[in-house]
Amino acid sequence: EKVLINEQLINREEASFSFDDRSMYFGDGIYEVIRIYGGFPFQMEMHMQRFQRSAEELDIPFDYDVKQSLTNSLLELLKENELNEGIIYVQLSRGSADRNHLYERHTEPLIFAFTKPMERPQQAMSEGIATYLTEDERWLRCDIKTVNLLGNVMAKRKAADHDCQEALLHRGDLMTEGSSSNLFIIKGDVVQTHPANNYILNGITRQLVLDYIEEHGKSVVFEPIQVEDMKNIDEAFITSTTSEITPIVELRGTVHHKLTVGPLTKSLQKRFDEDVV
Ligand code: PDD
Repeated sequence: EKVLINEQLINREEASFSFDDRSMYFGDGIYEVIRIYGGFPFQMEMHMQRFQRSAEELDIPFDYDVKQSLTNSLLELLKENELNEGIIYVQLSRGSADRNHLYERHTEPLIFAFTKPMERPQQAMSEGIATYLTEDERWLRCDIKTVNLLGNVMAKRKAADHDCQEALLHRGDLMTEGSSSNLFIIKGDVVQTHPANNYILNGITRQLVLDYIEEHGKSVVFEPIQVEDMKNIDEAFITSTTSEITPIVELRGTVHHKLTVGPLTKSLQKRFDEDVV
C-alpha cells in the first residue's frame, strides 16, 4: 500500500516526516476527506477548492499549480492502491520549523495523503442514529477545515459515552452542526439548516443536499435552529462525506426526543444514490 508525501508515492512503512512539523505542535494544518465510489473520487473538485480556501485563510501557500498536481497525484495514489470503495485523506501543513508560535513565510509546506477502504454506512442510513446534544466548545472559525479538532473530538467521545453515534453541537440556544457533519431539520413544509458562516463547516454533502431540496421544489430556511425547537420537529438528518445522508432517530443530552426516518430524508437519500452509482 502506497501513501503520498510531497508528490512522491512511497510504501506506507517507509513514510516519515519531520519531528518539528507545525501540525504536531500547533495543529497548524488543514485537511480534506474525499469519498471514492466505484474507484472514482466523488466531488473531488469541490473538495480541492475548499482545501485551497482553507489554505488561503491560514496563509499556507497552495496555488493553482500545486492544486492541479496534487489532484493528479491523488488520482495516481487511488489507482496504485486499487481502491474501489473508501476514502482519500489529504493533509497540508505549514511544514517544519523550530517550535515558535510565530510562523515564518519561508517554511516548506508538507502534503501527505493516504487511502482507506470504507463501505457505505448502510445500516445507519436505513435505521438512523442516536445523537447527543452538547455545548459547542470550538473556536470561531469552524469554516476552515483545520486539523485542530479538539472541540470536535471531545464532543464525539461524549456522544459515544452516552451510546450515541454523533454529537450535535449548540452555542447556547442555537444549534450549529455535528462534530463531523452538518445538521438539517424538517418541520412541516420547512427545511432548516445553519447558514454557511464561521460557525460551521460548509459541507460538500450539505451543498449537494441543498441542490436536491431545490430540485424537489422545497425551500430552505438558513437560520440556526433553536435548541428548544429540536423537540418539535418531524425529521432530522446529518450529512457528511462518510455518513452521506444519515437520519437521526433519537436526541439525548440537552434535549430528549425520539424521531422516525421520514419521507423527505428517504427521498433525498434516493436522490443522492443516483449521483453516486
Ligand atoms: N468531516 N462539519 C464538520 C465539523 C466536519 O468535520 C465535516 C466533515 C462536515 C461535513 O462536510 P463534508 O460533507 O464536506 O464531508 C461538517 C469529515 C468527513 C471528517 O472530518 O472526517
